[in-house]
Amino acid sequence: MQEKHPTMVPVPVRDLINGSTSPVNLYVRIGTDKFILIEKAGVKTNKDRLQSYEDKTVEYLWVKRDEYTQLVDNNIAIAGVMVNQQSLSIAQKTQILSQAAAGVFAELEHIGLGFETYSHARQIVEATVALAENTDNLSHLLSSLNDCSDELLRHSMAVSSISVLIANALNWENKQTVEKLALGALLHDIGLKALPPELITKPRALMSFEEIQLYEQHPYKGMQMLLNLGMVPDDVVAIVYEHHENAIGQGYPRKLRNIKMHPLAKVVALANDFCELTVRSTNNHAKSPREALKTIEITMGQPHNKEAFRALQLVVNKEFAKAAS
Ligand SMILES: [Fe+2]
Ligand SMILES: [Fe+2]
Repeated sequence: MQEKHPTMVPVPVRDLINGSTSPVNLYVRIGTDKFILIEKAGVKTNKDRLQSYEDKTVEYLWVKRDEYTQLVDNNIAIAGVMVNQQSLSIAQKTQILSQAAAGVFAELEHIGLGFETYSHARQIVEATVALAENTDNLSHLLSSLNDCSDELLRHSMAVSSISVLIANALNWENKQTVEKLALGALLHDIGLKALPPELITKPRALMSFEEIQLYEQHPYKGMQMLLNLGMVPDDVVAIVYEHHENAIGQGYPRKLRNIKMHPLAKVVALANDFCELTVRSTNNHAKSPREALKTIEITMGQPHNKEAFRALQLVVNKEFAKAAS
């Protein structure tokens, strides 16, 4: 991650969509406060050309802060079209969607959670729902997400997609409900942004008592961030606040039991544990979906809502039934 700059926002070259037309000017950074225009708005992006400047490898290009939203808008519009294209593979679709989502997470990081970022997150969710509903191959989806470079983004996109697959297996048909589920899942760990970055990647076993207490505030902090926006549906706020609760009352921050948990949070809490096991992170190597189910069932004593867990089993086993046939 690049350090913040008051007027410019970094864009990883890998997150630019090759061949698309950039709606904004792109700059390279040559000093603390020095930027040089490398590509004008309206020119087709050629990543090979942009990846080096004066024989140096360029990992980040820079965009003026007040123009950044246009770039994100553009990437989301492209991703929205691409995920519905039959000719592309799941891996290609996931990559394009992750690139667009990376822009939204960078917007969150550099500009903060405002109306623009929130509406961009909603658009990402629409495309995620479309992608997950047209995918019956869970392993492909997970391995495509494992290629995505930003850890929080990878995890959040996975929790969002898996939550939609669980909802499908539960036969939830209300589109608005599924979109709220996917949005809450995409934003569930947003409160981590309010914590010291070194704490987020620290293994829990190495945290002091005070650090654990601070870490466990992230659902509350996330809820506060969404409430401050003043327009986020209650269901989405509840998901963020309750994503570390579980059905047996051993979660945090409120130790709610199944009956007290929000129905959408029950799904996201399970998807969150499943994705912590199946998506690679600093502290974990990725388990297979089947191994992850076993870990939740046996090692963790299956603490989640029973119907949601059965639905997740269906999602995973459907794939194995297919692989065996
Ligand atoms: Fe979390
Ligand atoms: Fe999480």
